[in-house]
Amino acid sequence: MPNDTGVTKRVGILISGRGSNMMALVEAGIDVALVASDKPDAAGLAWARDHGLSTFALSPKGIGKPAYEAALNVALGDAEVEVIALAGYMRLLSDAFVAAWRGRIVNIHPSLLPKYKGLDTHARAIAAGDAEAGCSVHVVTEELDAGEVLGQELVPILPGDDADALAARVLIAEHRLYPRILAEFVRR
Ligand code: GAR
Repeated sequence: MPNDTGVTKRVGILISGRGSNMMALVEAGIDVALVASDKPDAAGLAWARDHGLSTFALSPKGIGKPAYEAALNVALGDAEVEVIALAGYMRLLSDAFVAAWRGRIVNIHPSLLPKYKGLDTHARAIAAGDAEAGCSVHVVTEELDAGEVLGQELVPILPGDDADALAARVLIAEHRLYPRILAEFVRR
């Protein structure tokens, strides 16, 4: 149930790339306390800095996942993050990290879960002859793309679609769905 205090939780967004979903969340007025990335050269980080957001960037390469996640956790704690939103974050979080944040990590995935967990979702939907694709926002658990689905948006697959054309159409839906569902999630 949404509370009626108007108080929302502070969100940390994790990205690995261009960060268009992060931009949609910021522009929708989500209270973004930190944008963090495992790719120090992620394009989305520059956008976040340009928009005055706090950022954290560290590659696990060379230091290993435990040290990387420990440092990420410190950054999230320093920023007083309460909810983590994965937005094109392309690295698996460890079971220990997920357990420490149990029920407080959400992700956007470019398929109608439980269909097409993992990668290459659009090519797989087209190859299967599906009439519809879409995107899902779900709670992150230790099992890949398997946590509770909080919301979905359907997108038609059109004749002649290739994976890139479908991805572009689904991305527009992602930018609508994620802010709406996350805004509900940070109020509950
Ligand atoms: C988005 O389509 C997102 O759903 C997908 O990566 C893209 C990131 O774009 N995420 C996954 O595939 C997660 N398994 P963005 O960086 O522009 O938000």
